[in-house]
Amino acid sequence: DFVFSFKGRYNLSNLHEACVDKYLRYGPIVREEFQWRKPVVHLYRPKDFEDVFRMQGKMPMRPISEFVKHYRLSNPDKYDSPGLANSVGEEWLRLKTLLMPVLLNDEKLNYLHGSVNDICDDFTELLRSVRCRKTFVVNDLQDVVYRLALEAIYMMSLDCRLDCLKVDLRPDTPAFAMIYSVKLLFEAFQELYYGLPLWKFFKTPSYKKLDKAESIMYDAASRRIEEAIERIRHEDGEKRDRELSVLQTLIECKDISDKEIKASVIDFISGGIFTVTNAFTFLLYHLSRNQDVQEKLYREVSDIAKDSVITKETLDKLRYLKACVKESFRLTPTIPTITRILSEDIILSGYHIPAGTPLFCNFVVPSKLAENYPEPERFLPDRWLTRDRCNSRFTMMPFGNGKRICIGRKFAEMEMYTALAKLIYNFKLESTGQVVKCKQAFIVVPSEPVSIIFKDRHNV
Ligand code: HEM
Repeated sequence: DFVFSFKGRYNLSNLHEACVDKYLRYGPIVREEFQWRKPVVHLYRPKDFEDVFRMQGKMPMRPISEFVKHYRLSNPDKYDSPGLANSVGEEWLRLKTLLMPVLLNDEKLNYLHGSVNDICDDFTELLRSVRCRKTFVVNDLQDVVYRLALEAIYMMSLDCRLDCLKVDLRPDTPAFAMIYSVKLLFEAFQELYYGLPLWKFFKTPSYKKLDKAESIMYDAASRRIEEAIERIRHEDGEKRDRELSVLQTLIECKDISDKEIKASVIDFISGGIFTVTNAFTFLLYHLSRNQDVQEKLYREVSDIAKDSVITKETLDKLRYLKACVKESFRLTPTIPTITRILSEDIILSGYHIPAGTPLFCNFVVPSKLAENYPEPERFLPDRWLTRDRCNSRFTMMPFGNGKRICIGRKFAEMEMYTALAKLIYNFKLESTGQVVKCKQAFIVVPSEPVSIIFKDRHNV
């Protein structure tokens, strides 16, 4: 099967379903030729994922987005590396070794948690203001959640607020431009990643889209990042010692240039808006359609987290809330495939696979099998709280695995847990009856703008 054959069974927006179809037709391991007959192997069995991840080594390789690398290397005035997600080998290791202790550090996350609380409070007020006065429906929930995700990642990266959670977001603001550019960027990624690589020969419309998205983001973010760097460099020593901001830590590190700091912040913004928005929207959608689950969650939140400031200690106790997030990732995984290229041959499900072959570990299939998850189509967070918790950890990895794991994982989790606790305490979410499917837009997103009813739980 050629994914791109015009007569083929699959199309770009249902690639996540195509993997289930391939599994049912051909079994747990499928070799496919992709983009001018390059072989790739799709894997659907957790045991095979485990074998792949055990062999990934200190510098795991992913098939990178060549077009991003090409774009960044063609713009040396702005970038001096392709960025963390699109680097490999020693270049990747250097950046990851610098960034990992900064972004995945518990002390720094605690420092950020106070501002995340403020942001989530503003987000709650924003939802209250934008919903319909009569029906309490928020139409196009993604549009509001984008602003939460942007405000949070901007604060994490630059240690200051962007203030995009006010009711009106004017089209001439940097926040508007950043959100627009991220949407465009993911559209371009989807077309360029799965399309024939004609952009190597001439500027295709999809490559021009990438160029436009990157330029808009750079123009909107660049000056603000420079200003934040200047601000931190000129702050007095005492204040800086007290602060644990991400930007300050990067500035104090000798092995990273200002250009690289800027590119990393841009990557955090691009990597942290689209993912969080779509994951969080699906989570609220599932809760609005599962009232028993929501009531249980409300009871947990009102017992443990009704104080206006939520801390790490509070989050540690919210076991059911975390189970709800996991269950949402299982049913609607944001990034359903983790890819690796191994430097040695490997035997998987009895087949010999040469080194260098892209291996696509697909989590949609094991997530939907009753042998791993009884009643797999239902949203049942309790399944994550029982002792024999749903088979091996290799059946689900929303943030990846090993050294190449998502650098924003801890921040994204903190943001989603805090926002969810506050929303569930404040509102009863109800379904409008809308049924939303999954659509592939480089990552997995709701097939349409989601509408949810937000009814106040307390007098305001
Ligand atoms: C719900 C939110 C998110 C999800 C589901 C998600 C998921 C992922 C996954 C699956 C990977 C690939 C990991 C692997 O290959 O093992 C990844 C990589 C990455 N993510 Fe996230 N992510 C999220 C939020 C964020 C945020 C907030 C940031 C910003 C800081 C971010 C920045 C990155 C970067 C830079 C990489 C590349 C890491 C590398 O190649 O070493 N992500 N993410």
